[in-house]
Amino acid sequence: MSFDLVAPWYRTLERIAFGEDLQRCRVACLAEIATPRHALVVGEGNGRFLCELLRLYPEVEVDCLDASERMLRLARERVACELPDCTKQVRFLHEDIMLWTASEQRYDLVVTHFCLDCFAEEQLGEVVKKLAGVAADEANWLLADFCVPDEGMARIRARAWLTAMYVFFRVTARIPAKTLVDPTPFLRAEGFALAQQHLFRKGMLKSQIWRRNR
Ligand SMILES: C[S@@+](CC[C@H](N)C(=O)[O-])C[C@H]1O[C@@H](n2cnc3c(N)ncnc32)[C@H](O)[C@@H]1O
Repeated sequence: MSFDLVAPWYRTLERIAFGEDLQRCRVACLAEIATPRHALVVGEGNGRFLCELLRLYPEVEVDCLDASERMLRLARERVACELPDCTKQVRFLHEDIMLWTASEQRYDLVVTHFCLDCFAEEQLGEVVKKLAGVAADEANWLLADFCVPDEGMARIRARAWLTAMYVFFRVTARIPAKTLVDPTPFLRAEGFALAQQHLFRKGMLKSQIWRRNR
């Protein structure tokens, strides 16, 4: 699995397919969480969300983890260009989340935007468990992703888009997932509860806050 090939084209492809809707979805819940101090952003991609996180919460320390070196480079360059005063707050970790061994850090914010959809069901359970294990007892988890509406044309349209996207990313990035798996049961099993949700594109895109208080 590697997004290195796609990385330089990711922004253009996103704009052609979804305009600004994915970015709206990424940041929709951002102002609705308690001010984070230590954030873990997994599969950040090219840094567009990361910059908004730093703009809104200028004190936050961020570990930005991605398996794609080119995506990480784009994210690092974007932060250096848009928010040069924040560069020292971000650690860029070139890691595969499946293999990553976390430090003792307890994150009060975990972010997985359009990233959990890369994993097959058995891997998804492992990834959610690993991330929940490094999250603080009281933590927010921001999750933006695709979803399939229950019925109607919106459901047909979403399924067609997802089929095309999975074919594309299985060929270009060799992602292991063949279909979209809902992470809800895995998050619930780790003590997280859905606290907020915004839907876009007739329910095909979701932006969620999952919260744990224990
Ligand atoms: C579809 S892109 C999403 C990028 C961005 N977060 C967004 O909102 O569009 C998936 C991202 O997750 C990263 N990724 C996929 N599998 C990963 C893994 N096993 N470990 C770490 N990062 C991974 C990819 O390199 C890529 O940057």
